[in-house]
Formats: sequence, C-alpha cells, structure tokens
Amino acid sequence: MKYLVLVLSICILFSCKQNEETQEVTAKQEKIVYDMYEPSEMANLMNQMYAHNLKVKNDILAGNVPTEFPLDFLKIHSAEMSEFKERNTVFQSFSELFIEAEKDIYNTESTVPLEDRFNTTVNLCISCHQTECTGPIPRIKKLLIK
Ligand code: HEC
Repeated sequence: MKYLVLVLSICILFSCKQNEETQEVTAKQEKIVYDMYEPSEMANLMNQMYAHNLKVKNDILAGNVPTEFPLDFLKIHSAEMSEFKERNTVFQSFSELFIEAEKDIYNTESTVPLEDRFNTTVNLCISCHQTECTGPIPRIKKLLIK
C-alpha cells in the first residue's frame, strides 16, 4: 500500500516519465530519481502556458477579450526537453497547429466565437499530449470552457 502511494505520487510528479522509467524500478530507486528531478525548459514553458491559458479562460468568462499573443509561446519550437523526448515530425506539426490556434485567440477580426477558438487551442494541447505525454491531460481538460 505504501509502495502504491509512492508510485502514484511519483507518476503525478513525473507525469511524462511514467511509461519510460519509473514504473518498474524499486521504491528506493524512485527516491533517487525524485531527488535528481529538475524540470526541463520545455516543462517550465508548459507550466507557463497552462497558467496563461487559465487566465485567458477566466478573462473570456468575465467578458474580456484577450488581445496580446504571448510571444514566449514561440519557444515551443526550440525549448530544450527532458532527455527522453525528441522533436519528431509529429511534434513539429502539433506545435505549429497549436501556435496558429493560440494566435487566433487574439485575432480580433475573427468571425469564429472566442470560446470556440479557445477550446480549439486547448484541444490541440490535448492532441499533442495524446501522442507522447498523457500524464497532464486530465489537468489540461479543466481548461476547456463548457
Ligand atoms: C507540440 C506538443 C505539445 C503541445 C501543443 C502542448 N504540449 Fe504540454 N507537453 C509536451 C511535452 C513533450 C511535454 C514534456 C516536456 C518535458 O518533460 O520536457 C509537455 C509537458 C506538459 C506539462 C507538464 C510539465 C511538467 O511540469 O512536467 C503540462 C502541465 C503541459 N504540458 C500542459 C500543456 C498545455 C496547457 C498546453 C496547451 C496550452 C500544452 N501542454 C501544449 C507537448 C506539448
């Protein structure tokens, strides 16, 4: 039982590593992995994107129109990832689609309702995550405007 709780908490912490490494190693080894964990540049960017889009969601719900595309998001094309991840062509195309969708949120001339543009963006976060990093998906789904 203790072991299970540890595995679960490690899985949450290392949402993207769970398949690759943490599951079958012993609890003791996991402790070491935990001590050495440092978020990658990409993980930091992702957390920043999460926080920003949560703010955008609240703005939209409050009736405000977000107007400024956060240029930092373009780092998705270059940010360093944890060593077990690579930028393959699937990743490239998802990042491009995602950036286009995110930009469209700030396009004040668009005829598509703002909520729809926002949800399209969040669904692209989810689509990319389905290809390689499923851990954060339940959290990302909470961004969707219902
Ligand atoms: C092009 C693919 C792609 C898109 C689009 C994408 N992600 Fe990610 N996300 C990743 C990858 C890959 C990682 C793992 C990064 C690493 O560990 O280096 C990640 C990690 C995360 C994490 C975990 C960070 C951590 O602390 O380990 C969160 C949260 C996250 N993404 C949220 C989002 C949100 C919110 C969006 C949309 C606004 C989004 N992602 C869009 C690929 C993507």
